[in-house]
Amino acid sequence: MRDKRDRFDNDTYTRRGRLTEYERARLAESPEQDLPGDGDRYSTWDTGERGPQPYPEWLVTDLAAVDTELGILKTGKEADVHLLRRGLPDRSRECLLAAKRYRSSEHRQFHRDSGYLEGRRMRRSRENRAMANRTSFGRNLIAEQWAVAEFAALGRLWTAGLPVPYPVQRDGTELLLEFLGDEDGTAAPRLAQLRPGEDELADLWFQAEKALEQLAAEGLAHGDLSAYNVLVHESRLMLIDTPQLVDVFANPGGAEYLARDAANLAGWFSSRGLNLDVPDLVAKLRDRAGLR
Ligand SMILES: Nc1ncnc2c1ncn2[C@@H]1O[C@H](COP(=O)(O)OP(=O)(O)O)[C@@H](O)[C@H]1O
Ligand SMILES: [Mg+2]
Repeated sequence: MRDKRDRFDNDTYTRRGRLTEYERARLAESPEQDLPGDGDRYSTWDTGERGPQPYPEWLVTDLAAVDTELGILKTGKEADVHLLRRGLPDRSRECLLAAKRYRSSEHRQFHRDSGYLEGRRMRRSRENRAMANRTSFGRNLIAEQWAVAEFAALGRLWTAGLPVPYPVQRDGTELLLEFLGDEDGTAAPRLAQLRPGEDELADLWFQAEKALEQLAAEGLAHGDLSAYNVLVHESRLMLIDTPQLVDVFANPGGAEYLARDAANLAGWFSSRGLNLDVPDLVAKLRDRAGLR
């Protein structure tokens, strides 16, 4: 049986204001439904790329759901992260999401652009030139490449069982992620902000070392790992900010990324009083990855 929605091909409708014609057409099909209020939009679950299956229990997948912007979690040089509630209008089902939006503005400083872009071969030279010349089209493409890369990385890590937020969707330069934080919208703290006691510190290091080992076993390095890209949610250590995930075999600098990530994270734990043998840790991780 064909779904009612199949008659509307989303791609053939252009966006007018906040609603695409597709969304308007869908609305006309269900007159009992109210328009979302100011600043809201219909759930974008039927657009863009979706995260890996099985979809988590908590995720609201109803197309009648509305996304409500609740505010900014963090503005950064490269991306802004917003808090969003996705829920049915009667609020019988809802979930919080983090919307990470890569910036394409001229003022955006992405310290990771050069190395990353050099390493990629783009088929279409017009796009290559636009990116190299940083035209507004090119900047938008770069921002979207980062969103694509981070979404793919999170999907891979999540599927491999690493502690990362579930990647819900990607549409253009926007990623929707599992929100790590309280029900009231307070985001989980970065590891760097914490002053854990002895037991908690040991427990967090246990988790950090396990995550490093899991990454190495997958032949991967985070690529920008530090106490700023680790959140602690309900006592669980979670890795975030993964657009530059490194394949330690394909990347000529792979082994160094692996060592640098380990040293950065171990360095924070050492500064908080743990006695760690970093060279020994790095040797163990290289071994785990199968690097000679
Ligand atoms: N899934 C998430 N849940 C809660 N907070 C998040 C989430 N992802 C990012 N944040 C918050 O946004 C900040 C920036 O995110 P991050 O991915 O590190 O982007 P960048 O460092 O490139 O700006 C994080 O330090 C964290 O405070
Ligand atoms: Mg970060």
